[in-house]
Amino acid sequence: MNKKIAVIPGDGIGIEVVAAALTVLQKIGKTFNHTFAYTKGLAGGAALDALGVPLPDETLAKCRESDAVILGAVGGPKWDMNPQQLRPEQALLALRKELGLYSNIRPAKIYSALVDASSLKREVVEGVDLIVVRELTGGLYFGTPRGIESRDRELVGFNTMIYSESEIQRIARSAFEIAMARGKKVCSVDKANILETSQLWRTVVIETAKEYSDIELTHMYVDNCAMQLIRNPKQFDVIVTENMFGDILSDAAAMLTGSIGMLASASVGGSVAMYEPVHGSAPDIAGQNKANPIATIASVAMMLRFSFSLGREADAIEKAIEDVLSAGYRTGDIYTKGTTLVGTREMADHICQRIVS
Ligand code: IPM
Ligand code: MG
Repeated sequence: MNKKIAVIPGDGIGIEVVAAALTVLQKIGKTFNHTFAYTKGLAGGAALDALGVPLPDETLAKCRESDAVILGAVGGPKWDMNPQQLRPEQALLALRKELGLYSNIRPAKIYSALVDASSLKREVVEGVDLIVVRELTGGLYFGTPRGIESRDRELVGFNTMIYSESEIQRIARSAFEIAMARGKKVCSVDKANILETSQLWRTVVIETAKEYSDIELTHMYVDNCAMQLIRNPKQFDVIVTENMFGDILSDAAAMLTGSIGMLASASVGGSVAMYEPVHGSAPDIAGQNKANPIATIASVAMMLRFSFSLGREADAIEKAIEDVLSAGYRTGDIYTKGTTLVGTREMADHICQRIVS
């Protein structure tokens, strides 16, 4: 198989974790006889420094011409004081919107070797295997009107949470399809006791569920969901929710697995999908070979499975990650006493060594 991949390392540890993940992809190519061609693109702070915009047209064009996109992370203190439109995060939002990636899939599965790296008790996290399906191109992140303006001699800031029936329907379908291939349980998370957006959300999700008679659909308010994720995460199979609720809940779900450095994600819905770790650019450890590359490596596995239908190759990566963790290798974020501390590159090398066809 020949595939063309747009690679956007971005900023901070994005650069290191993407480089590490590409060595694993290279190893997959060799082992299973595929060729992967890369075109690198700038985005985020790196693009602001080089070209003065967070997402250059050229980068977007490269993504559109590719079979998939791998992204590291964007952002850093250097650009934190930039005006809204010139912040690195705008690159991510524009990529999601322009590529039509309305469904963000964030699996949180605990590796047995890492049960003790979680801040929660073993009996709470052991066996956790859930997916947050986050709506990614609507809601508060994109709703208009938005802004900061002067009213009655003081400044007010405002955003709009807005969803159309069709936006809710397509994300609900995305969650139902994913659930059909696993536990067949979907929990739709909203704030329907307060927000009209959520009331419509709930109505449309219930209506859409009629197309999936095998699915067990439940509903939960977002505040309760935050609590339930910490209290009893094993009750969840697939969680579907709007953009900002999903942003917050997926960070909470990530911590169940010990570290946000473990969480992969796929953003789908358009003609090319984008794969990225859930974590950010971690400027405090950038450039020191300390970052955990597993989230990005696992995102590459998701790319192989979802975009290229290479299930065996994806399994080989996931198995290699498990083997390396069982062998006791750890980056700093998941290190516990008695395990072996390794750097970003070494972690990727250990994973490569364990990839077999
Ligand atoms: C995420 C991140 C982004 C988001 C930021 C960096 C714009 O937190 O992917 O979860 O809020 O969506
Ligand atoms: Mg987030």
